[in-house]
Amino acid sequence: MENVRIETRDGVAIITVDRPKVLNALNAQTVQEINEAFEQARADESVKAVILTGGGEKAFVAGADIGELAKMTPITGKATSEKGQAVFASIERFPKPVIAAINGFALGGGCELALACHIRIASDRAQLGLPEVTLGIIPGYGGTQRMARLLGKGKALELILTGDRIPAAEAERIGLVNKVVAAEELMNVAMEMAKKIASRGPLAVRAAIEAVMSGSEMPLDEGFFLEATLFGLLASTEDMKEGMGAFLEKRAAQFKGV
Ligand code: COA
Repeated sequence: MENVRIETRDGVAIITVDRPKVLNALNAQTVQEINEAFEQARADESVKAVILTGGGEKAFVAGADIGELAKMTPITGKATSEKGQAVFASIERFPKPVIAAINGFALGGGCELALACHIRIASDRAQLGLPEVTLGIIPGYGGTQRMARLLGKGKALELILTGDRIPAAEAERIGLVNKVVAAEELMNVAMEMAKKIASRGPLAVRAAIEAVMSGSEMPLDEGFFLEATLFGLLASTEDMKEGMGAFLEKRAAQFKGV
């Protein structure tokens, strides 16, 4: 891959979008490579969690590649949006936890990419926003939908309609990111959280992601049904016996994911 790197440390895949000359902007090739990196992380059984970050000092991802977008037609524009939506949806539904380590600008498609992750940790130097209306377009990689679901319509519309960039502290205050840490601590904090989740029962982690991500799109009764079904399913696993046995025997659980 040319614009995306993947390395695995301690059971955590670190996927880095790396086009620093354009602040890691997402051209079509980079969206495709992000997808490939996640497919590698999905297939690799040693990977228990994923951290997604940006290469260089300045940016997580500064948006879709405006040079490429400027040439779009109605037909290619729709296809571009659909492709990005599909790749980002597969991140949202990823069976292993995905943490965005937002190391700088997360704008437009970069903010939408962070929104598709399960947990967002930001550096104190990060700035987030959806500036698409300043370019005469709207967010097209799921941002209008995910932002409104995460923050509520009022705050989402304020960000989308003004196109303003907000600093990390404000993003934390409104719930757009989970926490803000010093820039030099970002990867350590993300790694610690990823390793902590990786030490939990992987089938339970997977079921919890599914219950929250799929369940929150359902009517409440159907969400409860999904929760109960997954809860019951986990009773069939060795991991449940191990987790509860370890508690009763006052030792650390050794989960095997079966
Ligand atoms: N697409 C393509 N190129 C981009 C880009 C994007 N989304 N964001 C930044 N770049 C390029 C710049 O054109 C510049 O290239 P150059 O060195 O050839 O001139 C390079 O990255 C560095 O960006 P620059 O604007 O000089 O850095 P800055 O620190 O002055 O400003 C930003 C940083 C993020 C505020 C500014 O680059 C920006 O507003 N980017 C666009 C954000 C956006 O609208 N994203 C949504 C797209 S739908």
